[in-house]
Amino acid sequence: MKRNIKNTNLTNIMETKKLKSGFEMPLLGIGTYTFGGEHDADYSKDEEWIQAIKAALEVGYTHIDTAEVYGDGHSEELVAKAIEGGDRNKLFITTKVYHNHFKYEDVLKSANASLKRLKIKYIDLYLLHSFDPNMPLKETMEAMNKLVEMGLVKNIGVCNFKPSQLKEAQKYSKAKIVVNQMKFNLWANTGPDVDTFTYCQKNDIMITAYKLFGRDKIKYDKIPLLVEIGKKYNITDAQVIIAWVLSKKNFVAIFTSMDKNHLKEDMAALRFKLNEDDIRLLDNELLMKRFNR
Ligand SMILES: NC(=O)c1ccc[n+]([C@@H]2O[C@H](COP(=O)([O-])OP(=O)(O)OC[C@H]3O[C@@H](n4cnc5c(N)ncnc54)[C@H](OP(=O)(O)O)[C@@H]3O)[C@@H](O)[C@H]2O)c1
Repeated sequence: MKRNIKNTNLTNIMETKKLKSGFEMPLLGIGTYTFGGEHDADYSKDEEWIQAIKAALEVGYTHIDTAEVYGDGHSEELVAKAIEGGDRNKLFITTKVYHNHFKYEDVLKSANASLKRLKIKYIDLYLLHSFDPNMPLKETMEAMNKLVEMGLVKNIGVCNFKPSQLKEAQKYSKAKIVVNQMKFNLWANTGPDVDTFTYCQKNDIMITAYKLFGRDKIKYDKIPLLVEIGKKYNITDAQVIIAWVLSKKNFVAIFTSMDKNHLKEDMAALRFKLNEDDIRLLDNELLMKRFNR
């Protein structure tokens, strides 16, 4: 089944990129890490977190990224509350199975528990949350395939897998691995994983870029090049980053925000196209992080 989530009645129309499974994936999505707690459940700000997700839906975001480990499952429960009563078919919901649940039966159990907490009948994208050298990769992938066969999961993917790990996982999987969720960050001191980006682009694996804003560094650690390019187009640092990331083949992005104005600002970045020279300058800045930051 192929859905087109472009045709919505939302205020803003969220554009999509095509996955190699044929499904459409929204260009931008919202993350929910820390909503409902980090690794333990936190119920202290439920109403605020639900309102933040609802605000994102009102602005026009259609992709929500969560994980079974976020708030020990409570993040998924908050997503369920925020989407209640809306049109499920207009949403693209990603969740993830944690590495302590990579055995065949555990993967099936985890997916079912996530579906129950999210109160949905299928997951649009189910990800392995990390690569674990001790994981039983063959049985993990068999379980992921079983979920696709059962119609409980539409697409499968991974997070932060290197090319050799992607190849090995694909070897055990009939269903295509369509997404690698990866950090993409001008503030990181480890530098970008260019080899993996290139491998994914060549093999038509979508990269969901996360931590674009350095988990808040954008607010207090100004990067002169972002400010300079922003001035030229009359856009903010965050909008420069989003326009740059989306200019790349096979890249979509997710970020977290509790602020409706930021959500609108980030969405408005879809209207801007950077020229090739500015994209190259930003690419060079990213590569330099390997040595300087
Ligand atoms: N697969 C993995 O291993 C993995 C790991 C980490 C994260 N993730 C996913 O990626 C998502 C995003 O990661 P993240 O939250 O760590 O980092 P992030 O998105 O880089 O940073 C979030 C911060 O950026 C700020 N922000 C958003 N828009 C802004 C704007 N226009 N101007 C200024 N600040 C802005 C937000 O503040 P305001 O609230 O003030 O807007 C928020 O504090 C997570 O929620 C999670 O779903 C996945």
